[in-house]
Amino acid sequence: MRRTHTCGDLGEKDVGRAVVLQGWVQSRRDHGGVIFIDLRDRYGITQIRFDPKISAKAHKDAEELRREYVIEAEGKVVRRPRGMENEKIKTGKVEVAAMNVKILNTSKTPPFEIDDRVELNEDIRLRYRHLDLRRPKMQRNIKIRHQIAKAVREFLDSEGFLEIETPMLGKSTPEGARDYLVPSRVHPGKFYALPQSPQLFKQLLMIAGFDRYFQIARCFRDEDLRADRQPEFTQIDIEMSFVDEEDIFDVVERLIQRIWREVAGIKLKAPFPRMTYRESMERYGTDKPDTRFGLELVDVSNIVRKSDFRVFVSALEEGGVVKCINAKGCASFSRREIEELTEFVGRYGAKGLAWMKVINGRLESSIIKFFDEKTQEELVKKTRAEDGDLLLFVADSYGVVSESLGALRIELAKRLGLASEEKYNFVWIYDFPLFEWSEEEGRHVAVHHPFTSPREEDLCYLDKEPARVRARAYDLTLNGVELGGGSIRISKREVQERMFKALGIGREDAEEKFGFLLDAFEYGAPPHGGIALGLDRLVAIITKNESIREVIAFPKNKAAQSLLDGAPSDVSERQLKELHLELDLPRSGEKTKEGE
Ligand code: AMO
Ligand code: AMP
Repeated sequence: MRRTHTCGDLGEKDVGRAVVLQGWVQSRRDHGGVIFIDLRDRYGITQIRFDPKISAKAHKDAEELRREYVIEAEGKVVRRPRGMENEKIKTGKVEVAAMNVKILNTSKTPPFEIDDRVELNEDIRLRYRHLDLRRPKMQRNIKIRHQIAKAVREFLDSEGFLEIETPMLGKSTPEGARDYLVPSRVHPGKFYALPQSPQLFKQLLMIAGFDRYFQIARCFRDEDLRADRQPEFTQIDIEMSFVDEEDIFDVVERLIQRIWREVAGIKLKAPFPRMTYRESMERYGTDKPDTRFGLELVDVSNIVRKSDFRVFVSALEEGGVVKCINAKGCASFSRREIEELTEFVGRYGAKGLAWMKVINGRLESSIIKFFDEKTQEELVKKTRAEDGDLLLFVADSYGVVSESLGALRIELAKRLGLASEEKYNFVWIYDFPLFEWSEEEGRHVAVHHPFTSPREEDLCYLDKEPARVRARAYDLTLNGVELGGGSIRISKREVQERMFKALGIGREDAEEKFGFLLDAFEYGAPPHGGIALGLDRLVAIITKNESIREVIAFPKNKAAQSLLDGAPSDVSERQLKELHLELDLPRSGEKTKEGE
């Protein structure tokens, strides 16, 4: 290798040294006879100085250099003249006085500047991801991702876990999303499914006696994409035998502590707070509470029931609830701002947003005439309202109230700057219901997945009153994001069969889909449980990025396309024929149901 140093190495200690650097031209500045090049690689930037008095040839050659050319520069490290130092970069005290320069490769003018300060359209970034990844911010994200994966491996190895790969080409797994299917050429008409998670295989590994398993596992889910969802993503997948909830919490807390300590230099306190699903829904309207700020939901149903406000009373009569957020100090919000918030909750199904302001110890509102003195007093007391506060109410079904006020809380915190990026508020959520009713499917579906164990004491309700059964499931949440989820599993055939039945999965169907697991349970399945943490989300939060696309080298866009290589793409007739596939495409203009 010719290069003696990287572009982030040189400092005062190297003054006088002959060096060879290789890298990309970040910029070229011509200062009346002397040319300066900022040379960049992933370690930093070093200034190269081309002075005709030192080498006329090098100076002449430097005139050819353009942005993103790859060059090799040979020269001597010199101290920069006083006043010319650049404190902002590591190598800012020195520069290289060039004797020779060689162009290793030229570059077309890139579609955007390789500079963190430039705001870029994401589609362009994804189209030219190889250039986007050259930006220091992206280099840092990818490096931190590596450091986290390394910390995970080191920690889990030290705890006796084995990293074991599980198949990518498998059978459909039931995590609740659609599968990505891969047609089999050898078995016409049959398909593999890419794993939505390694769930069943990790359980089989427990049965196989590998009592501590982990895998940094790729998962594939065909679902609606958002900032924190990708069609393929990565989990830190963990499974353990002979454990209960406490053992899982303990390992995960120590793993998280290790990651934060090593990667961010932050000491996290453990154990992490815990909250039941019910409490989280009541206070935050969601099962992933952001506890960095207050603005909690307050149930005022029993107070406003006595009012004359029809909107509230009729919602209650229909079995709904009325809840309220006390937006501290927001009485100064204008009508317009309140209208914006009303429009905001409307997106979550709320039919309106009633408000009351506390001014000089009294409630003021266009609807205040519907509430007598006593009701007003009770409202103030229950919501702990003080002068300058704004009360915001939604009346609707429990689901709509929770979702709309839960989202409003986050929106208010954003507007008021309440959610500090320096806080890492982890919360374990537990005591989830085992089932939820799906209107769409007209049956109970598993809140977590069908292999989650019911609580022992609720087993008796499994067949007759499934809605009452609580699950031995838990989620780890961080600052309002679901970071991971897991459960203690069913390990007995009989319970698993009852579970399938409660889910409306017929005996034959269960046998066809999961017969191998049911069979395996009959050969001494140990009690076991585990969890999977979303690696992409974890990296995004540590690096303070809103979207997980920022921490994945080659992500898909929101339409599940890779703009870089053009996937998904057409395949040849020959390939289709080999796979015994024929296309039945919607006519142009006609949308598929899912594509709407
Ligand atoms: P679950 O489905 O809750 O559990 O997934 C675990 C974690 O994976 C992350 N995640 C995602 N990240 C990015 N894009 C997605 N599309 C996506 N979907 C999920 C989330 C989530 O908390 N087999 C079980 C785990 C277990 O029971 O052990 C499972 O996959 O951070
Ligand atoms: P209206 O009776 O339509 O004039 O509404 C009076 C106030 O109540 C307005 O501020 C509406 O935004 C609000 N409002 C209407 N429906 C609801 C609802 N379901 N929950 C809370 N506020 C509502």
